[in-house]
Amino acid sequence: MMDRTVTGAIPYAHERSGTDRRRPGSVRIAAVGDFHCGQDDVGVYRELFARANDEADVLVLTGDLTRWGAVAEFNVVVGELADVTVPIVAVLGNHDYESGQVAEGTRVLRGRGVHLLCGDSFELNASVGFAGVKGFMGGFGRGMLTPFGEPETKAFVTATLNEVHALELALRRLSTPVRIAVLHYAPISGTIAGEPEAIHPFLGTDRLAEPLDRYAAAAAFHGHAHSGTLRGTTLGGVPVFNVSLPLLRKDKPGAMYFLYDTSPDLAAPAKAVSVG
Ligand SMILES: [Fe+2]
Ligand SMILES: [Fe+2]
Repeated sequence: MMDRTVTGAIPYAHERSGTDRRRPGSVRIAAVGDFHCGQDDVGVYRELFARANDEADVLVLTGDLTRWGAVAEFNVVVGELADVTVPIVAVLGNHDYESGQVAEGTRVLRGRGVHLLCGDSFELNASVGFAGVKGFMGGFGRGMLTPFGEPETKAFVTATLNEVHALELALRRLSTPVRIAVLHYAPISGTIAGEPEAIHPFLGTDRLAEPLDRYAAAAAFHGHAHSGTLRGTTLGGVPVFNVSLPLLRKDKPGAMYFLYDTSPDLAAPAKAVSVG
């Protein structure tokens, strides 16, 4: 049988292959983004997604579910998810906005029962909850865009800060000891390494990492950087995973998702981190 899991050389304690025995009380997350369903993709992912029923407790989708954001494509996505019986948590990506049909697409996904998070939170059980936003771009470190000068520049940065604020509120809303963040854009530069440096500012911003550290997220998953790096860590030590499907398949052809185990005893204690 084709190995659809991705386990790499860096031994994060709570990553697991699909064949590992699960620890009692653990929750196994299958996470993937950027499968970009088009109208001609009917049946391409259906069986692969259905395998998550046996291998995971929840399926997390990190955006760019469609190519152009057309309602017809959102319907294809729902069709590909038809056999998935575990809960599905998702955020949208920039491609899902392209056709201006987000409202209808959202209805299609939520009509299927997908927990589509746009600054919302979802508690899977008493232990594990998800906070999700699309996020936005803006750059990293000293290259971060600041709200100086023209109104257009300020509006751009405000759009980023609105996403950061929405993520913060969604994390704060969770009462679970394990808080998982779901994003489309990258919250750290570590997981976009491998992409051309010229486009780094358009792949995310580390402004999104501040709430992850402040609220001691157990892990964060994102997509968008198709040629990035699977694993990274925020300044505060939160593990971040780029689960873009093209990236997962570069490591393992035929992969459909990244598997990650988490449980309450793995939750990091609350900690404050200053970001200068
Ligand atoms: Fe994408
Ligand atoms: Fe994207």
